[in-house]
Amino acid sequence: MTNLHLEGVWKRFGAFEAIRNVNLDLPSGKMITFLGPSGSGKSTLFRLVSGLEQASEGTIRFDGIDVTGLAAHKRNVGMVFQSYALFPHLNVWENIGYGLALRKVPKTQRRARAIELLELIKLPDIADRGITQLSGGQRQRVAIARALAMKPQLFLLDEPLSALDAKLREHMQNELCELQRKLGVTTIVVTHDQREAMTMSDIVVVIDRGAVQQVGSPLDIYRRPATRFVADFIGTSNLLEGTGSPEGKFEFSGGTLKIATPDWLKRDESPAVLCVRPEQLQVMQKADGMPNSLDGQVTLIRDLGAELEVFVRSGDTEFISKEASGVELGFSVGDTVSLQIPETAHLMAA
Ligand SMILES: Nc1ncnc2c1ncn2[C@@H]1O[C@H](COP(=O)(O)OP(=O)(O)O)[C@@H](O)[C@H]1O
Ligand SMILES: [Mg+2]
Repeated sequence: MTNLHLEGVWKRFGAFEAIRNVNLDLPSGKMITFLGPSGSGKSTLFRLVSGLEQASEGTIRFDGIDVTGLAAHKRNVGMVFQSYALFPHLNVWENIGYGLALRKVPKTQRRARAIELLELIKLPDIADRGITQLSGGQRQRVAIARALAMKPQLFLLDEPLSALDAKLREHMQNELCELQRKLGVTTIVVTHDQREAMTMSDIVVVIDRGAVQQVGSPLDIYRRPATRFVADFIGTSNLLEGTGSPEGKFEFSGGTLKIATPDWLKRDESPAVLCVRPEQLQVMQKADGMPNSLDGQVTLIRDLGAELEVFVRSGDTEFISKEASGVELGFSVGDTVSLQIPETAHLMAA
């Protein structure tokens, strides 16, 4: 169980700032994801934590101990990558025991540890098989076992499931979570897939353009995104640009809405973005005098089986609302409807 602390960490490649002033304090024993779009700096941050890359500036600590200058093999970390990077000339148990062999652990102990880990990853009978005889999913499990063989302080995985097909990927997400809980090892999974991050994590670190945008639980990040980028990147949202005022008003091109005043808006009117999640938005047959509602026209209704999407144009904004599939809507495409916005919709500083 190890906590991870980054303070003022920068990484430059020439003039390019790949990581910009990252400060993180991540508790021990948790399942953490680094989430962000392609090119946002996730792998670079991963490589800084693992020691594969050295920071240009700043400090990295494991359990309070400064590891900033240490190379990867001097930090006690176990790593897994998208490409399994197993040694094809070694069999399964030799692969798992490779790091132990480098540390001169005797063969019988290495094999015993490998067998123990194979039990843990639910592949108890493949110790003597060749790597080429394994499926992609099995190879990734062996890579996971190999990373855990030395009881690392941090278990680090960079897009570990990206090469697997969707079904297997979902299954492996659950397996990884179960494994993490069983071992209690502080784990960081890098992913560009917001759904993967939301299902797997205790804590999500959202990264964009080399900087941390938000750190929080999946629910926190979904319900209270810190920035427009986070609101847009995670889940679907209706984003309205306007002005918030301390007395609980939000004004935008389509009208004025009553919105609970967030803490940051206690003093002056400020530019703000309102984030209304599709399941918060209620579409109803048009009725006059309804509080907090906008008029709009239904442009598309899409029944996806599990849920139903309703698209409504109001002024120059296209809204999306989600309803349970199979409900009687009471309106159809082309109808004028009322869109009801709850006062609890999340207001962010622009
Ligand atoms: N060794 C390097 N030299 C120069 N630029 C790099 C190097 N490694 C990464 N970068 C750049 O840093 C940015 C972030 O890359 P990366 O961390 O791999 O992103 P991600 O993993 O989020 O897709 C990219 O623009 C990439 O081109
Ligand atoms: Mg990457």
